[in-house]
Amino acid sequence: MIAFLNGQYLAKDRVCISPDDRGFLFADGLYEVVRFYHNRPFRLREHRQRLENGARELRFNRCEFPEFDEVLMNLIEKNRLEKVESAIVYFQVTRGAAPRSHRFPPPETPLTVYAFAREFFSAVEEQENGAGAILVEDDRWGHCDLKTIALLPNTLAHQKARDAGAVEALFVREGLIQEGTHSNVAVVKGGIFYTPPLTRHVLPGITRQAVIELCREADIEVKEAAISKNFLLEADEVMIIGTTVEITPIVRIDGKLIGSGRPGPLTQQLQTALFRLTH
Ligand code: PDD
Repeated sequence: MIAFLNGQYLAKDRVCISPDDRGFLFADGLYEVVRFYHNRPFRLREHRQRLENGARELRFNRCEFPEFDEVLMNLIEKNRLEKVESAIVYFQVTRGAAPRSHRFPPPETPLTVYAFAREFFSAVEEQENGAGAILVEDDRWGHCDLKTIALLPNTLAHQKARDAGAVEALFVREGLIQEGTHSNVAVVKGGIFYTPPLTRHVLPGITRQAVIELCREADIEVKEAAISKNFLLEADEVMIIGTTVEITPIVRIDGKLIGSGRPGPLTQQLQTALFRLTH
């Protein structure tokens, strides 16, 4: 597998990152995951802009990544992924390597930029039949709107879901549903599409935005509104939305069936619309 590190393409197993890297020591970094369908990136510009916004918020010494698009395309090509149905590229930027200190390193310290690409398969069975989720208290920090690599609460919650036979954990803060560990969440009730508004506790998902646009095109009313635990459990349909999960119906939460316990019509309509948009 060919990866990218600081301007160079090299075999992934030859990538060498300093033990002083602030990504390693402090999780001081940002990342993006971009999906390619038949060699075409999905919403590349939006991913780059989200990364650049994050770099500004974290006060990185470089907040523009003009190389982003080219690196992604090159990784697809160098790994011979042009012909596959779907692939992902992971792109990470950290504040670079410097002797460990809570202070920022000197401003001339180069950021560490690392990326790799691989073929990616959708979880078709889950997307067709729906899957389970669990609810967990949101114990993440106050800036979940930034796509940082500090994901320990997410991985712990996700593993808890897997251990319970579910595919996602949904974070609940003060009784309100925020998002999943690696996805956004939406609910259908009375034909209306509800999704939590963008606050500091929710990542502005690229797929979420695309699905909102698809709703509007299909004349489905969209409400970006707070979703309580009760509203969620009494919804007609629940779905998770994201680059990797695409649209996956959630038919069971903490063991309780949602609606009929089968993927609902609006979720299926949006799955079809998203497939058309990406393929
Ligand atoms: N995760 N919320 C969180 C916490 C996420 O980590 C993600 C994506 C999303 C969905 O965002 P988007 O539609 O832009 O992918 C929402 C990526 C895929 C990951 O961590 O692997």
